[in-house]
Amino acid sequence: MTEANELEEKLDKAKLPCHIAIIMDGNGRWARKRRLPRVAGHRAGVKSVREIVRACGEIGIKVLTLYAFSVENWKRPRREVDTLMRLLREFLRREIPNLNKNRVRLMAIGRLKELPGKVQETLEKAIKSTEKNDGLILNLAINYGGRSEIVDAVKGLAKDVEKGICKLEEINEEIFEKYLYTSHLPDPDLLIRTSGEHRVSNFLLWQVSYSEIWVTPVYWPDFRRRHLLEALLDYQRRERRFGGI
Ligand code: IPE
Ligand code: IPE
Ligand code: MG
Repeated sequence: MTEANELEEKLDKAKLPCHIAIIMDGNGRWARKRRLPRVAGHRAGVKSVREIVRACGEIGIKVLTLYAFSVENWKRPRREVDTLMRLLREFLRREIPNLNKNRVRLMAIGRLKELPGKVQETLEKAIKSTEKNDGLILNLAINYGGRSEIVDAVKGLAKDVEKGICKLEEINEEIFEKYLYTSHLPDPDLLIRTSGEHRVSNFLLWQVSYSEIWVTPVYWPDFRRRHLLEALLDYQRRERRFGGI
């Protein structure tokens, strides 16, 4: 029996997180360790995406949000940004048949309108062609920032107040959430970050209020099904209190 199978046997299928969010980090360091250019790390990271999407579907996770590109990542050298955009398009084009086969429904959050036109087109096509799938929701955070999401939500809400669709006195957390990019999704139960950094890096700031956080030193390109299972088993040992006792 493989290590992953052994771990999977220990999983309590009744206590799975509904929504897992992952900060896929460490591609550059993975490459540097091998004396390869950073983009080689991004290319290798796509393999992990494939494996983890598949594993989440098989295990029975409902939503997987992957942090693919942050609003801050535009600060990187032009060549690296271009490669990331190209890899994203390649992934979206190549994976559609596979996503459909595994009943995965693709969604995306972020300032998508600011993405290069070709990326937007490919993304829209992929979303459209998987929209009837009833398995795992694969939610890609692209040109995503937690603060910009909150600002965008405030603007949307302010507009509705102005138009009289919503009353100022009526605003509460439940109503506010309806203006976030994730209004159609539950909050993440489990937040995973690879490559050992203990920070949130502007990811789902509102939504991770009560997420369980799991950090691993493993670089994203080395992240495999067994690591996901380790995270899930650790999650299942925790007691979530949500402020109660
Ligand atoms: C994560 O890996 C991928 C993206 C942010 C797009 P990094 O590129 O941040 O890799 P490190 O953190 O420099 O090792
Ligand atoms: C977070 O990783 C963003 C993504 C995984 C897309 P970064 O590598 O950009 O974050 P910092 O700079 O280490 O905080
Ligand atoms: Mg990084």
